[in-house]
Amino acid sequence: MKEDLVLPATREATEDAALEPLLEVSGLTKYFPVRGGFPIRRTVGHVQAVDGIDLTVHVAESFGLVGESGCGKSTTGRLITRLLEPTSGSVSYRGQDISHATRKQLAPIRSEIQMIFQDPYSSLNPRQTVGKIISGPMEINGIAPAGGREKRVRELLEIVGLNPEHFNRFPHEFSGGQRQRIGVARALSLEPKLIVADEPVSALDVSIQAQVVNLLQQVQKELGIAFLFIAHDLAVVRHFSQRVAVMYLGKIIEVGDRESIYDRPRHPYTHALLSAVPEVNLMDEEAPQHERIRLAGDVPSPINPPSGCRFRTRCWKAQDKCASEEPPLVRLSGNRSGHLTACHFPEEPTTQGRAEDIVLDPALAALEESSEG
Ligand SMILES: Nc1ncnc2c1ncn2[C@@H]1O[C@H](COP(=O)(O)OP(=O)(O)O)[C@@H](O)[C@H]1O
Ligand code: SF4
Ligand SMILES: [Mg+2]
Repeated sequence: MKEDLVLPATREATEDAALEPLLEVSGLTKYFPVRGGFPIRRTVGHVQAVDGIDLTVHVAESFGLVGESGCGKSTTGRLITRLLEPTSGSVSYRGQDISHATRKQLAPIRSEIQMIFQDPYSSLNPRQTVGKIISGPMEINGIAPAGGREKRVRELLEIVGLNPEHFNRFPHEFSGGQRQRIGVARALSLEPKLIVADEPVSALDVSIQAQVVNLLQQVQKELGIAFLFIAHDLAVVRHFSQRVAVMYLGKIIEVGDRESIYDRPRHPYTHALLSAVPEVNLMDEEAPQHERIRLAGDVPSPINPPSGCRFRTRCWKAQDKCASEEPPLVRLSGNRSGHLTACHFPEEPTTQGRAEDIVLDPALAALEESSEG
């Protein structure tokens, strides 16, 4: 990886710019119809994949979106990148409502919002050379960089830590981590301002995950690109995101700055997610072993979610009120501004006494050390 990342763009991540909203999502909802019946198939219900979420990503900020499989993270990412049309609610990019924008209306901002996918194997065309893959978006958008596209491809390969001479190779000649780097280079080719990264390291070996997270972090910081980083566990985004939202069954149940979410979480589900990391501390066998929360049962179906608080069927604190009243997402007393929780009976703001801080994987531990240093 080169020390200096340079893009031929006027893109600076200034401190002031960090407060400027880039993406604003309000009441965003996506219901997928469920069809059934014979002989006439009709809509018999809806999968409430995303159900009224609000979030803001600021310029050059990294925002983490975390939750178990099936809670609506990818759908949220696809709504934001407009691969899907929302059922209701709005998505605004730089103040412009793009929720129902047509292809033509989207054209000017298409290049500014890019997506990185989970599976580096299926997201790259096996028949195209790396050069072709990375320059593809430039061709489609008619972008001719100074010095030509091939020169730009070489620069991008260097930025993502690959050999610039390998632009004529095919995806199968690269490892999983390298393919994800190619995916990153492709996303960078249009000089985006926002990257939606949907579980970009979940398919990679744990030892490679930290390297790719490191690369993305460097890209975010040095090129000033905002990220919506989607992950299924809190460990990955911890190193990456300044703010984190936790999703459960289509809703955001807690959101806040990194310290609030990891050190002072209030929602029982956030506590459970934090304690779900393995309890053995490989780095220090003498470290005290703490209580762990085990989530009983499966995530309920998003076709017929529980009334009131959707987490109540798995929550150890649930009471009658939880079934009858949906808890609003609000700032609880004592919490920092921007730290919002949706729970009638929140946990104490501490993670003391649990194993959540233990990072089992040495690669992630190394990353943590380097990001603290
Ligand atoms: N195109 C679709 N049609 C019907 N249901 C869908 C579709 N896409 C996703 N879903 C459902 O929506 C819910 C949320 O899915 P998804 O956004 O992929 O979750 P996640 O990325 O958090 O695992 C799941 O129950 C999933 O089965
Ligand atoms: S509202 Fe009730 S069921 Fe939901 S998380 Fe809080 S205590 Fe648990
Ligand atoms: Mg997903």
